[in-house]
Amino acid sequence: MTKLVFRDKIIKLDGVSLKNIGVSRSSKNVASAISGLNGKAVLDIGCGVGYMTIGALLSGAKSVVAIDICDTEKILRKNLRVNNIGQNRVVFYKSYLFERIPDDLKFDVIIANLPQHALPAKLESKKLEGKYGGYDGTDLVCRSLSEAFFYLNSGGRYFGSISELTNHRRTFLIADSLYDLKLKKTVVKKIKNDEMMPFLTEREFLDHLKKLKGAKMIDFSGDGVNFPIEYKVHYCQFNKKCVD
Ligand SMILES: C[S@@+](CC[C@H](N)C(=O)[O-])C[C@H]1O[C@@H](n2cnc3c(N)ncnc32)[C@H](O)[C@@H]1O
Repeated sequence: MTKLVFRDKIIKLDGVSLKNIGVSRSSKNVASAISGLNGKAVLDIGCGVGYMTIGALLSGAKSVVAIDICDTEKILRKNLRVNNIGQNRVVFYKSYLFERIPDDLKFDVIIANLPQHALPAKLESKKLEGKYGGYDGTDLVCRSLSEAFFYLNSGGRYFGSISELTNHRRTFLIADSLYDLKLKKTVVKKIKNDEMMPFLTEREFLDHLKKLKGAKMIDFSGDGVNFPIEYKVHYCQFNKKCVD
């Protein structure tokens, strides 16, 4: 059992270091961008073992629909118990993004901490499930932002991040068309040399990033020949635009 901070709350969690579904390095940064959860109906996309779900409920959210592509319900429910949260406040769906969420469910707040590394379109790199964000890194984030629009109540808010190691201009374009964007925080992150092993060699990974940088899709500092690579991640609040 690990104690973690979610904004001003302390959460106890089992499974924090589980591969792919545990709590990622970016989780605390996403959490720090979130506010105004009191009494809200929340959707947690990619809930994993429940860091955001439990953090949201302890911060006053009325209820959470928690979804994950992996069947994390058992460990999520255990973590709810440990934090003295009633099981009936959370509904879990094993779902690829919104695929299994009933159309008539609507939310005040959506939290999405999704994988977004740009990786070559090789079967091997797709095995990096906790990191794979598509060829230019935007597959999940852009789809999630687009579909979330239709699940948000009027005045609804979406919290997530946009990494400059992805085709971030594309994501900002899509986001701008649907949301008023509020940049909460920018963090410089580092990729280490063994991060994509054993599914991708350092050379394959660097060549891919260099190619995308050459096409002005992604941005990072460093020569692209050696690690570490440094890049920016923007933690944002997306306010649903009014449609009349
Ligand atoms: C970085 S972890 C975040 C876990 C937790 N929400 C947190 O912030 O600590 C990403 C989670 O997204 C899930 N995930 C990845 N792709 C997904 C998809 N297409 N649909 C739903 N969940 C997905 C993974 O299984 C994993 O649990």
